[in-house]
Amino acid sequence: AARGAGAGVLQGRRVLITAGPTLEDIDPVRFVGNRSSGKMGFAVAAAARAAGAEVTLVSGPVSLPTPDGVTRIDVRSAQQMHQAVFAALPGQDVFIAAAAVADYRPAEPLAQKRKKAGETWQIDLVLNPDILAEVAARPQRPFIVGFAAETNDVEAHARDKLRRKRLDMIAANHVGQPGCGFESCDNALSVYWQDGGEEIALADKSAVAAQLVECIARRMEAAG
Ligand code: CTP
Ligand code: CA
Repeated sequence: AARGAGAGVLQGRRVLITAGPTLEDIDPVRFVGNRSSGKMGFAVAAAARAAGAEVTLVSGPVSLPTPDGVTRIDVRSAQQMHQAVFAALPGQDVFIAAAAVADYRPAEPLAQKRKKAGETWQIDLVLNPDILAEVAARPQRPFIVGFAAETNDVEAHARDKLRRKRLDMIAANHVGQPGCGFESCDNALSVYWQDGGEEIALADKSAVAAQLVECIARRMEAAG
């Protein structure tokens, strides 16, 4: 077989990936959510598959085709994503959390549409489970990769998340840099682990994803 970039570096590994936003319903026609196209997570799923992995992709609402050979599970809310991730977790070798999970959800979603009334509207929000931190807290855990979208002090915030959530690796996006992040097709990542790091230069998300997958494979090898 051809040994192109990334070919086979995750051969036979099982990889679980979250992608896209989560949407938290206020009522049947309104929601609170995060900005995310899902492109980065889907590109990572395709790259992991191309590297020989058996890939399960848990996705929030996005309008993207499922990458070839990838098992996709669609969810809407953070609670649904949490449930789907834990159901798929046994036997996984790698967990990559690329989803933009809503940190909070409406405390009391309404069964019926709220009619317009009054000058203001207060909505109480309650904290969602931290899917990534919970996976990392398991005794039998896979190799764990988080993402961080930061606007400022990128390395400090990313390293703080790496430590606090007990991750093996974190990939940081510089939000607000030209050509980077969100709906864009291009991205650049700063990847950090406990005693090192690596820059992945601005390129289309599939090229960046392939480099991230190579980096994960190298770190897994180094960790034994
Ligand atoms: N994440 C998750 N579940 C959540 C929140 C975040 O799995 N409820 C994951 C994301 O998929 C990402 C990582 O945690 O891989 C970091 O997300 P981020 O929003 O940057 O971190 P938070 O801890 O929520 O911190 P903050 O939003 O305050 O920066
Ligand atoms: Ca968050």
